[in-house]
Amino acid sequence: MRVHVTAAEALEGTLVLVNDAHPLQAWPEKDALTAVLPGAPQKPSFPAPSDTPQKLSASALPGALQKPAAPALPDTPQKLSASALPGAPQKPAAPALPDTLQKLSASALSGAPQKPAAPALPDMLQKMPNPALPNTPQVLLRRPAAAMLGALLDSISAAGRIVPVSGWRAHAEQEALYADSVRENGLAFTQTYVALPGCSEHESGLAIDVGEARDEIDFLRPAFPDTGICAAFRAAAPRYGFILRYPEGARHITHIGSEPWHFRYVGVPHAACIAQRGCTLEEYIEALRANTPANPLRLREDGRAYRIFRVPLAEDGAAFDVPAGFLWQASADNCGGLIVTLWGAP
Ligand code: DAL
Ligand code: ZN
Repeated sequence: MRVHVTAAEALEGTLVLVNDAHPLQAWPEKDALTAVLPGAPQKPSFPAPSDTPQKLSASALPGALQKPAAPALPDTPQKLSASALPGAPQKPAAPALPDTLQKLSASALSGAPQKPAAPALPDMLQKMPNPALPNTPQVLLRRPAAAMLGALLDSISAAGRIVPVSGWRAHAEQEALYADSVRENGLAFTQTYVALPGCSEHESGLAIDVGEARDEIDFLRPAFPDTGICAAFRAAAPRYGFILRYPEGARHITHIGSEPWHFRYVGVPHAACIAQRGCTLEEYIEALRANTPANPLRLREDGRAYRIFRVPLAEDGAAFDVPAGFLWQASADNCGGLIVTLWGAP
């Protein structure tokens, strides 16, 4: 099957590199965001092979994920409205297909980079208390990342012990955070721990700062020691598609200091591969340049075979072949390429 992905669709993928050299080119729409609420999904699961990966239905999923009845799949848009949130706690989508290409709304992004002047969501969404975590501000992420974070927290029984501190930030919020930090902490500190507005993964809705639950939590640098429940989170994160984004000793690559609290959703199987290599996202994206369609990276993770390759991403997008029996996902790398992930049979 020949598949064509537009450049705008590709920018909705979860492998987009965001750093000071590669600013964000597309911001998530509010429909793409949802609250982080531990408690709903049980474990990550994956789609069964299908000829029509964009048309997966609940019946294609393993049994466990079909309960409770009619789980919202990531390709079924969950309309997030301000009025829907203040009531009952939301159940995040079941973590089925972790990424976005199953649900592509081309209308969401129309070619030219967007730079929202104002927050995309009302302030109240940021300020609303999270019913699952009393006294904690509402934290939003892109839907697949939120679902997988909920599953990760559940898997280590972290509710009440680890607090989601900061997820999606509106562009204006990152601007204010940066300016406030320069004023209060100075430029050197700020350049170490706060990304330039437009260059922050938080604006993509794919990054989450987590903190050990304490009476006092530092918003910019939450405590997240490499012991106990936090160490368990760190160890389990790759299975759920998250990487430690700013490891110690990698500032010359990431241009950000060590941030043991900041995790980035890149999806399965990339997180496991990055963790196993012990590399940064920058190095992983660079290394994938060697993996052409004729020379894919072949991985086996949780009993499933994957093939990963890169094709150049032009203004009108990119096309690639998907062999029979494989599902596919694709994401811009924000460095001129499209990373294609083929999901083989379990
Ligand atoms: N703390 C990270 C680098 C950010 O501000 O995006
Ligand atoms: Zn962060």
